[in-house]
Amino acid sequence: MADLEGKHWINSRLVFGVLIAAVTAVTVGVTALLMNIAERKAEVRQPFVRVVDVTEDDTDPAKWGKNWPAQYDGYKRTALRTATRFGGHAGSEALPEEKIERDPWLERMFRGYAFSIDYRDRRGHAYMLTDQEATKRLTKPQSGSCLHCHASIMPVYRELGGGDAMAGFEKSFELTYQDLNAKLHESGHAHPVSCVDCHSPADMSLRVTRPGFLRGIQALAASTAPVPAVPSIAIWREGKRAAPYDPNVDATRNEMRSFVCGQCHVEYYCATKMPLTFPWGKGLTATDIEAYWDEKDFPDGKDFVDYNHAETGAPVLKAQHPEFELWSQGIHARNGVSCSDCHMPYMREGAAKVSDHWVRSPLLNVNRSCQTCHRANEQELLARVDVIQQRNYELLQRGGAAIVGLIDSVLAAKAAGASPQALEPALRLQRRAQWRLDFIAAENSMGFHAPQEAAKILAEAIDYARQGELAALSSTLPARAAVPPSGAPAAPAKPGPTVPAAQKN
Ligand code: HEC
Ligand code: HEC
Ligand code: HEC
Ligand code: HEC
Ligand code: HEC
Repeated sequence: MADLEGKHWINSRLVFGVLIAAVTAVTVGVTALLMNIAERKAEVRQPFVRVVDVTEDDTDPAKWGKNWPAQYDGYKRTALRTATRFGGHAGSEALPEEKIERDPWLERMFRGYAFSIDYRDRRGHAYMLTDQEATKRLTKPQSGSCLHCHASIMPVYRELGGGDAMAGFEKSFELTYQDLNAKLHESGHAHPVSCVDCHSPADMSLRVTRPGFLRGIQALAASTAPVPAVPSIAIWREGKRAAPYDPNVDATRNEMRSFVCGQCHVEYYCATKMPLTFPWGKGLTATDIEAYWDEKDFPDGKDFVDYNHAETGAPVLKAQHPEFELWSQGIHARNGVSCSDCHMPYMREGAAKVSDHWVRSPLLNVNRSCQTCHRANEQELLARVDVIQQRNYELLQRGGAAIVGLIDSVLAAKAAGASPQALEPALRLQRRAQWRLDFIAAENSMGFHAPQEAAKILAEAIDYARQGELAALSSTLPARAAVPPSGAPAAPAKPGPTVPAAQKN
């Protein structure tokens, strides 16, 4: 018995010891877990610990990277090559492919302008400054305004303006590209777009810094153009309007997720006659912007023009990467889907949710970029995009053929002795056709950002080009007056109810 008791006693002690050990282990474990959860929660709420202090003058992203390594890692990856069927870049690792060689009609359209010398595929943000410094377009005189979108330029604007960035910006167009670029390098701010350009160093909130955008969006808000993609403009319009619309005060956080990109991915005027201008005073559609440029005069009173076509003499407009504008006309913008939702989707880094700072084509990342909202599988989503892009591509190539047809016809009419007056309607149509064709050619989504709007613009481009060709042909016919150009047919009066009144109850 004693033995048994003894054994029992030993056993009880053992069990007791094991129990204590187990409880201790569990307690330690649970405590550790709780601590871990608390830590992680804190991490999610306060996803960074500041190792170094950053200020408005810290344009070097490496310094910010000490505090926010995950975002900095993504940012650095923009130096990696990306390529999809229409996105990223073809060509060598060293240099993207020439668009003007791939699509010779582009070169024809740009004759008389620097884009006919050198115009390549875009690539990642890491290259923006060096690619600009290397382009042969700089063999023609260019303005300091070019740096607005290719460098972390704000401290240089402040220096030029005696502390006032807007004042510095207003002077910058008068400097040559080379002079302002030299200042940028001397001041130590020769970095591509950097953290400080989209984030406030005080609290990391998103903000826009670029004067071109601040001015442009202000003019847009002050107009009466409908802007369903930016609901805060409607709210500002209905308010007291005590101060002009200011995106950093009036915009929602979701709008800021597109505005930071709209600082650069937009149509603009950038040359030596006036400050960099975003042409949004009449709205964001291709037609609104054309109307804005048509009405615009240079400070010397002359009609606004980007260049005169070298072969025909037509006073034409050059469109530049209107991603923000085309996006604003699409179904995604209308549903509040921002540039960042697709191009900087959230990803997990340990327990934290971070925005992918490897800004690139969303087609390389369908899972995080699209499937957060769309249930279709990856292959299906890629196929939907490809259908949109293929249709856009075919229309674009037809437009290219049509513009070449127009230019050839004008040259033939000139050779046959058509007078400048007789050719005037054809040249006006060239301006309209080229503007539209270039608007979609220069936009970088191959129609995806707003498929129907893109198709409409291309249909108009083709129509204007062929009308111009007819006008050129008829300019040498003595018996016929030049064909007057026709615009869009008048829209029918407000569409009535589709259900006959009698059937309604
Ligand atoms: C609904 C998702 C979506 C939204 C929102 C969106 N994009 Fe895109 N974007 C795309 C897709 C898809 C492409 C085509 C990519 C391709 O062909 O590889 C694209 C292409 C681009 C490209 C060319 C990419 C490359 O790799 O060459 C740029 C630049 C771009 N978008 C900028 C923007 C900007 C700026 C905004 C906001 C104003 C925006 N996008 C909004 C989906 C989106
Ligand atoms: C300061 C100007 C600036 C800002 C702000 C900016 N971009 Fe860009 N982006 C550029 C330039 C310039 C290039 C082309 C660089 C080159 O080709 O060397 C570019 C290239 C791109 C590309 C092509 C990448 C590739 O791998 O081919 C995408 C996509 C893109 N930007 C999307 C965005 C989005 C989305 C935002 C906002 C979150 C944004 N950009 C903000 C100027 C800017
Ligand atoms: C309003 C912003 C903005 C201004 C101003 C601007 N760029 Fe850009 N640039 C961009 C964006 C966005 C891209 C990338 C999209 C693209 O390539 O279409 C780009 C792409 C480029 C590229 C690479 C692709 C190509 O076109 O060969 C070069 C080179 C370039 N820009 C040079 C210039 C020069 C030179 C100027 C001044 C005349 C200038 N940029 C002014 C925004 C701007
Ligand atoms: C072209 C604009 C742009 C640049 C440049 C940029 N960011 Fe961001 N960043 C964003 C956007 C957009 C978000 C999403 C913010 C939101 O939804 O409120 C973001 C979010 C963040 C956040 C919040 C957490 C997260 O990941 O969502 C941190 C931290 C951050 N960025 C750090 C950086 C650092 C560090 C750099 C420079 C290495 C940098 N960013 C450069 C646009 C930018
Ligand atoms: C934040 C949510 C969201 C994200 C991210 C998103 N979409 Fe969408 N997408 C929508 C909504 C909402 C619609 C409109 C649906 C409707 O109203 O019927 C839409 C519509 C579409 C359409 C129909 C387009 C049209 O013009 O009719 C296509 C195609 C599409 N999305 C593809 C994509 C692809 C590809 C991506 C990723 C690059 C993507 N979407 C990312 C929400 C999103």
